[in-house]
Amino acid sequence: MALNADLTAELEELPATGPALVAHGAGDLRIEEVPLPQPAAHEAVVEVRYGGICGSDLHYWLHGAAGESILKAPLVLGHEISGTVVRAAADGSGPQAGTAIAVHPATPGPGAAKYPADRPNLSPGCTYLGSAARYPHTDGAFSRYVTLPARMLRPLPDSIDLRTAALIEPTSVAWHAVSRAGDVRGKTALVIGSGPIGALTVAVLKRAGAARITAVDLHPKPLEIATAVGADEVINAADTPAIAAVEADVVIESSGNHHGLASAINGAVRGGTVVMVGLLPTGMQPVPISLAITRELDLKGSFRFNDEIDQVIAALADGSLHIEPVITHEYPLSDALHAFETAKDSTTSSKVLLSFGKPGDAQ
Ligand SMILES: NC(=O)c1ccc[n+]([C@@H]2O[C@H](COP(=O)([O-])OP(=O)(O)OC[C@H]3O[C@@H](n4cnc5c(N)ncnc54)[C@H](O)[C@@H]3O)[C@@H](O)[C@H]2O)c1
Ligand SMILES: [Zn+2]
Repeated sequence: MALNADLTAELEELPATGPALVAHGAGDLRIEEVPLPQPAAHEAVVEVRYGGICGSDLHYWLHGAAGESILKAPLVLGHEISGTVVRAAADGSGPQAGTAIAVHPATPGPGAAKYPADRPNLSPGCTYLGSAARYPHTDGAFSRYVTLPARMLRPLPDSIDLRTAALIEPTSVAWHAVSRAGDVRGKTALVIGSGPIGALTVAVLKRAGAARITAVDLHPKPLEIATAVGADEVINAADTPAIAAVEADVVIESSGNHHGLASAINGAVRGGTVVMVGLLPTGMQPVPISLAITRELDLKGSFRFNDEIDQVIAALADGSLHIEPVITHEYPLSDALHAFETAKDSTTSSKVLLSFGKPGDAQ
């Protein structure tokens, strides 16, 4: 009985609401007190510490839509977060209260639609935190407190601080993209677009043993960061002859536009592999695809990730993966608009973090 009384006391300690960042439509971002959903038995409550701003968050803010995902109702943004469990799931699954965690934001779709069983990232109807792809939308985790299924939580070893841990989700995207290329050991690699995803891809390629890594971007700042995480050489995107001369075994396209994909195809060696992780707009894209035929290039798509998040955590914990330079700015939640404006400008920023800590919190 004493235990029950303690549990009741603990239940009462959780706040009923907390501040969250909510997109209401294009140009309409609000910090609001949102109710904390009561956790179901399989759900835990997390106190969020850091959240990385992703391109999709920027799109909801700027356009009220990210690609085909159009806001039909207010949406709590955010899927790149770290924090601490404040209430473990009542069914005993997942980490205990007090555990530092990162979050896997995906919930595979239901039903028996066709997709490879070992690739749930491809399941139709898959939902993702902070996404308007379905209606009702899937609220995200830019919120001081968030209720999440315990299966999404990944405990962090002490050696990974919560700030770096905010990069675990986009690094998993990069890890998945690199693994789509197969074994890169001893191979030459070219990364087109050196924003957060491109820079994290450089870091993952370095760790995976790529022999020589060349990074491409339009601007000096992203190239500086790519160098800091392991690029051996950088090329300005306008220098197309230099890109073609790389003749890379493996090319990762992470700019998300057709000029970048054209560079990727041009920079690949005959018989090489091009992994497309940058999200092109839907519809027709003008790219020199005939080269992919005559050079027998392997063109591969790459979408989100599955269990790669566990490999990322292990590689950060053992010190073999270096990604800290990708974080360029940090703002408190109260300054979210400024944070989004900074994140929008890839000439000056790479990954911008929101901090959800209360004044006086450590790290
Ligand atoms: N496939 C997935 O699962 C997945 C997941 C997350 C992000 N993404 C996509 O990956 C891409 C990169 O994400 P990000 O957060 O780094 O975006 P970002 O916009 O911050 O970075 C893109 C970078 O590419 C550079 N660039 C633009 N045109 C270029 C060109 N022609 N040649 C070389 N560089 C060029 C820009 O200067 C910028 O630095 C986006 O398209 C994003 O939507 C895909
Ligand atoms: Zn993201």
